[in-house]
Amino acid sequence: MEKIIVEKDQGKALEKPRNPINQRKLYLESYGCQMNFSDSEIVASILSKAGFDTTNRLEEADLVLLNTCSIRDKAEQTVRKKLATFNSLKKKKPQLKVGVLGCMAERLKHQFLEEEKIVDLVVGPDAYKDLPNLIAEVDDGQNAVNVLLSKDETYGDVSPVRLNTNGVNAFVSITRGCDNMCTFCVVPFTRGRERSRDPQSIIEEINDLWNQGFKEVTLLGQNVDSYLWYGGGLKKDFDKASEFQKATAVNFANLLELCAKTQPKMRFRFSTSNPQDMSLEVIETMARFENIPNYIHLPVQSGSDRILKVMNRQHTRQEYMALIDNIRKILPNCSISQDMIAGFPGETEEDHQDTLALMDYVKYDYGFMFSYSERPGTMAARKLVDDIPEATKQRRLQEIIDRQREHSLYRTQQHLGQIEEVLIEKTSKRSEAHWSGRNPQNTVVVFPKDQYKAGDFVMVKIVDCTSATLIGEGIELSDKSK
Ligand code: SAH
Ligand code: F3S
Repeated sequence: MEKIIVEKDQGKALEKPRNPINQRKLYLESYGCQMNFSDSEIVASILSKAGFDTTNRLEEADLVLLNTCSIRDKAEQTVRKKLATFNSLKKKKPQLKVGVLGCMAERLKHQFLEEEKIVDLVVGPDAYKDLPNLIAEVDDGQNAVNVLLSKDETYGDVSPVRLNTNGVNAFVSITRGCDNMCTFCVVPFTRGRERSRDPQSIIEEINDLWNQGFKEVTLLGQNVDSYLWYGGGLKKDFDKASEFQKATAVNFANLLELCAKTQPKMRFRFSTSNPQDMSLEVIETMARFENIPNYIHLPVQSGSDRILKVMNRQHTRQEYMALIDNIRKILPNCSISQDMIAGFPGETEEDHQDTLALMDYVKYDYGFMFSYSERPGTMAARKLVDDIPEATKQRRLQEIIDRQREHSLYRTQQHLGQIEEVLIEKTSKRSEAHWSGRNPQNTVVVFPKDQYKAGDFVMVKIVDCTSATLIGEGIELSDKSK
């Protein structure tokens, strides 16, 4: 099933942009979350001003950068295996430099240089503006490390170079870092404290994307609903802001409205929502604007109150269900997706059954499901024993995946016979004669190409489905494309 993935995929930078004065070639590969892919576009922009064009041909690279993920052990092992493949290349081309960016850089810091001799450069997620200086140090024959986390870096003033783009969908970061401290999660350590980006720079980026022909923007953050702009500074320091700053602050609902009104023919998605921060105001804003599609990614991790508490999630099962009820009431056709963790320390069969029962209650459209992976330094690693046998974790994960598959099919079947607006993204992987796009609920829809083109919003009648894909027939362009 296409949408149920255990590890998100990886991507390589394409050969762009070409700046005629740039002499050196950068090969940039991203792993993990959407934020990493978006950060890589910021890195490409910073380095295009420092003499580097991106390339997708490793053999012509002068500099290789891996933008890494630490979320689970497997993600880190993937990067280590990739690094090992550069050994022979570096022997052939001694001037080749290798750098590690992102969460593994932040987590392992100088240790990386000792553990992986191939690495020359280690740069954490808040230090990308320092890359030109760090590369100059590496050129001088030294190793270079910058893993400082920042209170205010949002890269709001960098206009990203769109890599690997289909020219239709783009990602725009609106918050960085996370203050939630879920006990299993490494992100607060690798991405620092939560801060929000100036709405004006967000709107400028969105206008720029519209002018380049983009049709859909996903607003990104670890916890987008907690977005709060009050003139800069950390979210946790909002209490200390002046009365004026408090009175003029922009919250996530305000930002969504601003985006939706500024570009009424563009779609605005967002990810990720944390249940405790998703307000009625946000749900009502979604209801008011047709160009904010009815889809919410709402990770819950577990259906057991006991486990939610040890995970330090800031809500109970009951509160989560009440939020789902509100979403269903205000946005009746809203799709909802989940993240789940199977086999958290101390999880009993009963806790696991609670998770399956919660899934039955919500009937998620799809989900991202994982077995628990202990991350060094997190509260769970320090205070809890990773005591669920691997076989049990995998069995519970499989039961969660199987249940999700049933629910996904139930959900896709509800679309049969409906006429839905689909934004065309690309040619279908299975057939040259079909387009692939997504409906507002974020479900993939495949339909014959006819006279339509990528970037068109098309009204499509849904005639068939699998558990992951809708199959349809184009009727006419939607109002957004007329
Ligand atoms: N708020 C973030 C969450 C990042 S982590 C966001 O923007 O998506 C993404 C998902 O990875 C989490 O929701 C969780 O389900 C999973 N995850 C995080 N840490 C994990 C761990 N230690 N083991 C297994 N899965 C984990
Ligand atoms: Fe991680 Fe929890 Fe934040 S899952 S990213 S600490 S909301």
